[in-house]
Amino acid sequence: MSEDNLTAVLYKAQDLRLEQRPIPTPGHGEVLLRVGSVGLCGSDVSYWWRGRTARHVVKTPLVLGHEFSGTVVQCGPGVHTLKPGDRVAIEPGVPCRVCEHCKKGRYNVCRDVKFCATPPVDGSLTRYYVHPADFCFKLDEGVSDEEGALVEPLAVAVYSCQRAEVGVGRPVLVLGAGPIGLVSLLTARAMGASPICITDINEERLKFARQLGAEHALNVSGMSDKEAARRISQLLPRPPSSVIECSGADSSYRIGILAGAKGGVMVTVGRGNPDVTLPVTLLTAKEMEVRGIFRYANCYPAALAMITSGTVDLRALVTHRFRLDQVDQAFHTARDGTAIKVMVRVDRGGAGHGPTE
Ligand SMILES: NC(=O)c1ccc[n+]([C@@H]2O[C@H](COP(=O)([O-])OP(=O)(O)OC[C@H]3O[C@@H](n4cnc5c(N)ncnc54)[C@H](O)[C@@H]3O)[C@@H](O)[C@H]2O)c1
Ligand SMILES: [Zn+2]
Ligand SMILES: [Zn+2]
Repeated sequence: MSEDNLTAVLYKAQDLRLEQRPIPTPGHGEVLLRVGSVGLCGSDVSYWWRGRTARHVVKTPLVLGHEFSGTVVQCGPGVHTLKPGDRVAIEPGVPCRVCEHCKKGRYNVCRDVKFCATPPVDGSLTRYYVHPADFCFKLDEGVSDEEGALVEPLAVAVYSCQRAEVGVGRPVLVLGAGPIGLVSLLTARAMGASPICITDINEERLKFARQLGAEHALNVSGMSDKEAARRISQLLPRPPSSVIECSGADSSYRIGILAGAKGGVMVTVGRGNPDVTLPVTLLTAKEMEVRGIFRYANCYPAALAMITSGTVDLRALVTHRFRLDQVDQAFHTARDGTAIKVMVRVDRGGAGHGPTE
């Protein structure tokens, strides 16, 4: 095996260094992976630019990246489900497996979950990475490494649509057309929702959403909450019973409640102002439910099946590609607002695997 384990390490805000690290050894139940593609997420960009997200601070050097795929190069003892050469999508959060939440299957809210690239747990912008085999999901030959990396944001969307009770022939409102809003749009469509209205304040993103099949893409910039809700009610045949908030903007939460159907559900995916003011009286009168979303639990198999079957096609979301040695440039591009999804090709060849790259 090559000695090269080039790794991008964040020391502090805007101080990202490429350095060699020892290649780790897989323990019991673990596999050593050669990392393929890593998608940059808003949280990675926030750690890189500000040295923190809302909740977590980079205090010791941290490797970023949690949306990724790779190839198994070595199996630790006790691994029977994978073999060297298998390409996999990696579910980045590994829970304790024994607490009450884990036992009930809601392992996403496990107190002791170790999530890649969340301090102090290192992420995947490194050539070699060790991970438990049962959090690695085999990719079919027809699925590219980039699509494997996109399973992570897709899992957020699958979980959100499930918890929002998205259903066949029912209107859906998605607030925010960033990567998460866009994958939610595609997932809701794949689940038969119709029509779908998506909002944003960025016309480019709305244009993209239309290309991806949004029946209605509304620019809410400069609108009052009431005006936006009124426009949504004119666009949709009836109030949306499923509202998916993916912007984190104060006004979006309120518009979701104003526009949502009586008895409907709004899921809150966006992470915004913790002290946002909501029209609670209206929420009560409408008997709407607001449900939090924290990542996902047990959604990788469904997300992967949707990609493998072609039910969702996420390839257009990848707008920019860089090699690991260009990682600084990749972060600048992810931050400047022009990209939808920036991918970092970590394999040394840089040419990529799979049919679509
Ligand atoms: N709950 C979870 O587990 C989870 C997982 C991933 C991401 N997130 C959060 O979901 C949100 C979306 O993630 P993303 O990667 O797509 O982020 P993003 O920042 O790329 O996208 C947010 C979008 O919202 C738009 N926006 C801003 N103000 C708006 C407004 N007033 N109305 C409508 N749209 C508006 C922005 O223009 C942008 O297109 C973020 O807050 C992120 O932190 C949560
Ligand atoms: Zn992410
Ligand atoms: Zn647990």
